[in-house]
Order: sequence, then C-alpha cells, then structure tokens
Amino acid sequence: MTPATQIIVIDGPAGAGKSSVAKAVAHALGFAFLDTGAMYRAATWRALHHGLDLGDTAALIASTRAMNLALEERAEGLRVVVDGEDITDAIRTPEVTRAIFRLDQIAGVRELLVAMQREIGAKRPTVAEGRDMGSVVFPEAKCKIFLDADLSERSRRRAAQLREKGIPVDEAALAAEIHERDEQGRNREHAPLVQAADAIRIDTTGREFEEIVDEIVARAREVL
Ligand code: DC
Repeated sequence: MTPATQIIVIDGPAGAGKSSVAKAVAHALGFAFLDTGAMYRAATWRALHHGLDLGDTAALIASTRAMNLALEERAEGLRVVVDGEDITDAIRTPEVTRAIFRLDQIAGVRELLVAMQREIGAKRPTVAEGRDMGSVVFPEAKCKIFLDADLSERSRRRAAQLREKGIPVDEAALAAEIHERDEQGRNREHAPLVQAADAIRIDTTGREFEEIVDEIVARAREVL
C-alpha cells in the first residue's frame, strides 16, 4: 500500500466532534492521530509569545518557519511542544483561539504547515483531522469524512470542553464566536473550509459518539 491509502481524513467546522472522533478512529485501527488545528494553534501561540505584530505577514511566516514543533503521543494524550516548551494547554486559551485567523489565512504559513503535515502523514498510517485535509493536504486519500453538526450542538460541545479545562464560558458569546470562525474559515482565500467532492458527510447532531466512530471505522476497513 502507498502512504495515500493509509490516510483517513476528517474535516469539518469547529465543534463538530472531529478531535474526539478522529482519536477514537485512530485508536480502533492502530493509526496515528494528527491534530492539524493544534499546529495552527502552536504557530499562533508562538507569534503571541514573541509579541509579534499580527498584521506583519512576513514576521508571522518567519516565526512559523523558525518554530521547532513536536507533537508527542504519550499515554495521557497528545503533547504539543514548541521550542522545547510544553504548550499543550496554552494553545487552547481563548486568546490564542481568537488570534488564529490572523495566521491561518496566510498562504506562506499554510504552506509550511501543510509540508509538515504531509511529512508526518507519509511516515505512518494516520487519521488527519482539520479543515483542508481532504481538499488540499491529502487530496489522494481514499477515506475522506466531513463531520458537521448544528451550531447549537457545536457550541454546547465546545462549552463543555472549555469548562472541563476550568475556563469559564458564556454560551451565547461562544456560539457567536464559533459562527464567526465558521464564516472566516469558509470565506478565506486560501484553503477555505469546504467538503471535498469525494468526502462522505456525516452530521453528528444528536447521534451517539460510538455509532459515528463505528461508521468511519467500517468505511475505512472497506476502502483502505
Ligand atoms: O480544530 P481547531 O479548533 O483546533 O483549529 C484551530 C483553528 O485552526 C481553526 O480556527 C481553523 C484553523 N485550522 C485551519 O485553518 N486548517 C486546519 N487544517 C486546521 C485548523
């Protein structure tokens, strides 16, 4: 099998359940899990950490190029390490989340991260989760899933995730923020959030988590 046949891509908007579903699918099949959102978060964290001007495209690209990023799979979960510092929790703060759109629209930043993603995906059978996995990064993947859910359900899930981390949440504000990020993601010039033509769309609204995981695992076993 070529590396392309060993890739499962899971794309979709924020809060559709991609991360937890992708992790469970990877676990069920013995595949690695690639959280590409964590990579955009890491690049954003680094820019903020160095106090860069978020309007300075060249500086943001240079920072992303200079970033020494490691995604380490440990028993307790994925750890994100940048320039030797563990930033796993720091990349989930609202401050980072709000600033990502300054970087994720820059073609030069995306090119650097896409190259890293392809390199990681070529090494091991992988479940790659993000926004442009099926459309841009792994267009040749045989198993492409687009996960979606109602905005209200996605907001509820994100609120629960944040509360679990001890971050206080205003659910109405969160729904507005997710909606705004949806719009930014769908309307941006480079790699907008779109369902690849050959992706299967799964609406997770009101559905059992295990049922969705089983559906994707069955699909992967069929086509890979
Ligand atoms: O999935 P997430 O919320 O951790 O992703 C964080 C942000 O990164 C999200 O707002 C959009 C961006 N992103 C992207 O542009 N392309 C990807 N492949 C993954 C994430």
